[in-house]
Amino acid sequence: MSGQNTEKQILAMVLLLVLAVASLGAYTWFDNGRRTEARSEILSKDAARAAFTFSQNCRECHGNDGRGTESDGSLVGPALNTPNNTYAFLIGNQGQLDALKNEYRYTIACGRNGTPMPPWSIDQGGSLDSFKIDNLVTLITTNAGNAWELAVEHAVHADEVSIENLKLAYEGAKANLEASGWFADLEAATGAVERSESADRTLLALRDALAAAEQAEEELDEAQDALAAYEKEYTALVLAAETIRTSEDAAAIAAARDTLSAASAEQQDVAVNRAWLKVANNYVSALDDLETAEERFAAGLPVPTPATQVTSNTCGQVSADMSVELGDWLSSHTGAS
Ligand code: HEC
Repeated sequence: MSGQNTEKQILAMVLLLVLAVASLGAYTWFDNGRRTEARSEILSKDAARAAFTFSQNCRECHGNDGRGTESDGSLVGPALNTPNNTYAFLIGNQGQLDALKNEYRYTIACGRNGTPMPPWSIDQGGSLDSFKIDNLVTLITTNAGNAWELAVEHAVHADEVSIENLKLAYEGAKANLEASGWFADLEAATGAVERSESADRTLLALRDALAAAEQAEEELDEAQDALAAYEKEYTALVLAAETIRTSEDAAAIAAARDTLSAASAEQQDVAVNRAWLKVANNYVSALDDLETAEERFAAGLPVPTPATQVTSNTCGQVSADMSVELGDWLSSHTGAS
């Protein structure tokens, strides 16, 4: 009787033990899952933050979706959103992932001298702290939570705002042009400006002519004075004075004077036309900016236009050009060839 009870007690204890081991295993499995989930949630949040930073700083070169030159030849930055960059993360090769992250962290912080890739870390004159740079590296190497799609959303939103602003600028420039009431259209404006500029040239020519004429008049007066003094004694001078009096200079002076007073009215038009040329130019460039922006937007390209080469010597990097120069300098100073 008591032997049977003992057997039952042993069985119950064994069962309890099995249950305890099983639930510990289940818990560990569950907890691992929870930890993985929490980790991927953090990665997604980091990548989502980076998507915004990317849309503000990087897309003009690397494209709205990070596919860079792979998506369009007018972009200057290589693709960052590529399967190559997320491969190590996806297969869980931590060593390879760490190496890639270090490389990109360095590239983003320091830029690449001699290429258009600028340095971004604050101590290299950039605008991003190391938290933002780390998040960008996470975005590029994991695409956690499909964050590249968020980057595109931010880009589209920002460009919609830019285009709205360009439209306002265009409407303003157009309103100014219309408010002139002077010109029916740009062609007329351009024509008027051309006419006024040629009037301006005429005016300058007339000024020169007048100056020359005045000089001639002065010389004539002097000659006449001189002539008056010697008239009685020198017949030859009388004859010379006659020649000067009947020369065409005096008539040219009078004609130039008439033309000049007519031209001075036109001179005022020149100033007004110049002012309207500015208004008309503002209109043309506002229209141009808007059209370019809309074209790029429609093609899925970033609206701002990309910048040029970085030449600063960031993080002690020596560009290809600089090392050639350094080599030349060394060989010319050491006699090495
Ligand atoms: C003015 C253009 C420009 C801007 C803006 C720019 N980049 Fe770049 N980036 C480049 C170019 C060009 C390269 C390729 C450099 C080279 O030839 O090695 C590059 C290379 C890179 C690389 C290395 C890619 C590889 O495959 O080796 C990373 C990572 C990168 N950029 C990230 C960024 C991030 C993140 C930003 C924004 C914070 C950014 N870039 C902004 C032009 C730009």
